[in-house]
Amino acid sequence: MLKTGVSKVLITGASAGIGEAAAYAFSDLKCPLFLVARRQERLTRIAESCRQKGAPQVICQAHDLSVPGKGATIVQECLETLGGLDVLICNAGYGIYGPVAKIPPDQMARLWQVNYQSGYESIHAALPHFLERKEGHIVLVSSVIGKKAIPFSATYCATKFAQAGLGDAMWGELREHGVGVSVICPGATATEFQRAAQKTECQQNTSWGVAQSPEVVAQAIVRAVQHKKREIRLTAGGKLLCFLERLSPSLTSHALAWIFSRRQKNSQAENT
Ligand SMILES: NC(=O)c1ccc[n+]([C@@H]2O[C@H](COP(=O)([O-])OP(=O)(O)OC[C@H]3O[C@@H](n4cnc5c(N)ncnc54)[C@H](OP(=O)(O)O)[C@@H]3O)[C@@H](O)[C@H]2O)c1
Repeated sequence: MLKTGVSKVLITGASAGIGEAAAYAFSDLKCPLFLVARRQERLTRIAESCRQKGAPQVICQAHDLSVPGKGATIVQECLETLGGLDVLICNAGYGIYGPVAKIPPDQMARLWQVNYQSGYESIHAALPHFLERKEGHIVLVSSVIGKKAIPFSATYCATKFAQAGLGDAMWGELREHGVGVSVICPGATATEFQRAAQKTECQQNTSWGVAQSPEVVAQAIVRAVQHKKREIRLTAGGKLLCFLERLSPSLTSHALAWIFSRRQKNSQAENT
């Protein structure tokens, strides 16, 4: 349903990485844009580049999506300032690495609010508008580790599984009402994600295989909207992980437990 030069696109987490690349990809299609993240100066600079690439209207608003209710606020602001919304891309997010025992509930609650709940709030606010028009598309940027969890990323995996589950179920609820839903599952992607991630004392990163560029993910998002794809998984490492999980969930879990506990011990040894 993506209409070049017409479809209005809201992107969260548009100040860097996948969200920034998605803003440029939709600018190439001359879509009006509503961009959200916390860093206003970066959004302003990216908005200018989007205009130069052909986006006819770009509005950027700094919001902290860890604040409950902001997910609905941004949809309201988009409807008022852009005069509509056609594609909602729930992309903002960050990671926490470390064992559950070291991650207190308040850190989990904040992660949940940014990675999952703010997206739910946005979707809930956008749905009446989409359902009334029998048109619209929701994109959830989950992860391949929202399909198969890995040790020492439990809190992050929980948010990504929730996004994937929400998207999968909504796809079935909404397809007869003209509203598309896509779950994008990137593997390792070269963005600020690793640097921005919160780490406990073990300081390991959980990257899986060779990192792809954020532009690859942005093109997958465009493809998903254009062709109403239910789910897209990306990177060879990510696809391999999902394949092994299908082949033998138990063996895959044992192998991951072994690999990640070794990595954990190595990084603990390096830090002492
Ligand atoms: N990179 C990977 O390897 C990878 C793999 C699979 C899935 N993903 C998913 O892809 C999505 C985008 O990540 P990325 O790789 O592009 O990382 P990134 O470069 O760190 O970008 C994250 C974006 O989220 C925004 N954000 C973070 N916390 C926010 C908050 N409290 N309020 C509003 N915006 C917030 C950041 O903007 P501000 O800091 O300006 O607020 C930034 O624009 C995430 O959902 C991530 O889980 C990434």
